[in-house]
Amino acid sequence: MDRIVVEGGRRLKGNVRISGSKNAALPVLVSSLLVDGECVFHNVPDLVDIKSIKLLLEDLGARVETNGDTVMIDASTVHKFEASYDLVRKMRASILVLGPLLARQKKARVSLPGGCAIGARPINLHLKGMENLGATITLEHGYVEAHADALVGNDIYFDVVSVGATENMMMTAVLATGVTLLRNAAREPEITALADVLIQMGAQIEGAGTSVIKITGVTSLKPVEVQIIPDRIEAGTFMVASAMTGGDVTITDCTPDHMGGIIHKLKLSGATVLVNGSSIQVIGSDEIKSLDIQTLPYPGFPTDMQAQFMAMMTVAKGTSVFRETIFENRFIHVSELIRMGADISLSGGNVATVKGVARLSSAPVMASDLRASASLILAGLIAQGTTVVSRVYHLDRGYESLERKFEMLGGAVRREKD
Ligand code: EPZ
Repeated sequence: MDRIVVEGGRRLKGNVRISGSKNAALPVLVSSLLVDGECVFHNVPDLVDIKSIKLLLEDLGARVETNGDTVMIDASTVHKFEASYDLVRKMRASILVLGPLLARQKKARVSLPGGCAIGARPINLHLKGMENLGATITLEHGYVEAHADALVGNDIYFDVVSVGATENMMMTAVLATGVTLLRNAAREPEITALADVLIQMGAQIEGAGTSVIKITGVTSLKPVEVQIIPDRIEAGTFMVASAMTGGDVTITDCTPDHMGGIIHKLKLSGATVLVNGSSIQVIGSDEIKSLDIQTLPYPGFPTDMQAQFMAMMTVAKGTSVFRETIFENRFIHVSELIRMGADISLSGGNVATVKGVARLSSAPVMASDLRASASLILAGLIAQGTTVVSRVYHLDRGYESLERKFEMLGGAVRREKD
């Protein structure tokens, strides 16, 4: 396992290009299962999770070719309908193949994804939605089995706003007979990105990006060539890094419209944020102001940015309160930040109170999930001394060459073999 070694005290300066979005690429690559023929995807990030989904699609029988950040997938030869435990356990988002396989061949068998560090991550909304379209779902031996004689459009209401359930149901309903309504749907940019791809394939979808999505089923879809949208969470991570190091960083090839909550909170913390087309310049201030942050479904403040902002608030002037409303256990980074000298107390399971301290001190710390890993590296950037973050395989799931990008910005961040 690798570790990341960070020397604190450097102000980050310069430009950094944002990669394609992991959370857009995963469902979009999976949507290739809905068509026979060559789909071509550009700006695909080079991440462990992307490698995992490509392996799964190949295991199902698809032809997958990668050339730099371009991925070609031809699902014409998909013959299997089972996604094995060995592949699904590596990445929960594999459950997204359930809907397309059901839509494609009216049956699917996918290993139940386990929970993960941040929560139980149930898939009840995915399964209930498919039953609403006429599928029979059975759970046995750790697998979900779904089959349907026919998929018929229906009016579906999600009790909880769920990105994955919205994506899975969109990809199931596009080939169902009749009209499907998804009510209380997720509104994330990644939902809109997936809908745009499906529409380009010939699907009839209205309302993506709002809480009610209307899908009128069609009989077949056609291959497409598309560009993956930029990763708003990677972008936000670098924006926070610039703000908390008192730096001056411009991120390029991003989509500012997807980052309203992040930009708003950074400005409140005292940073200067200048938006110019697909670039954002973030200039840190000498004094970081404390913030109150509540994570919410988009367009609310993104849960995937909570840990990064907490790293910054550890040295803010005053007390900040974080309320995590999406996942039940997304404060694992707190104990590691405390080991670095942060003053954080937890209450009620989803509230963290962060009292700003003068400076963090370096320490050996351990990553536990993707975004917690990033927050520990950010903390290392401002801590006195050398911070070693171990178990960075979490990081590699969702950030492309993070240490190299930080080095290019003047950060003393390097990777070592553990
Ligand atoms: C997606 O996960 C993202 N992952 C997550 O990013 C992100 O944090 C999350 O959406 C919320 O924005 C990908 O897109 C691959 P949800 P997902 O279904 O779809 C509950 C990262 O760091 N729920 O929107 O799994 C669930 O327990 C990752 O890049 C049910 O109860 O999230 C949670 O409390 C982490 N039943 C809430 O909904 C269900 O059937 C939101 O989960 C499904 C979800």
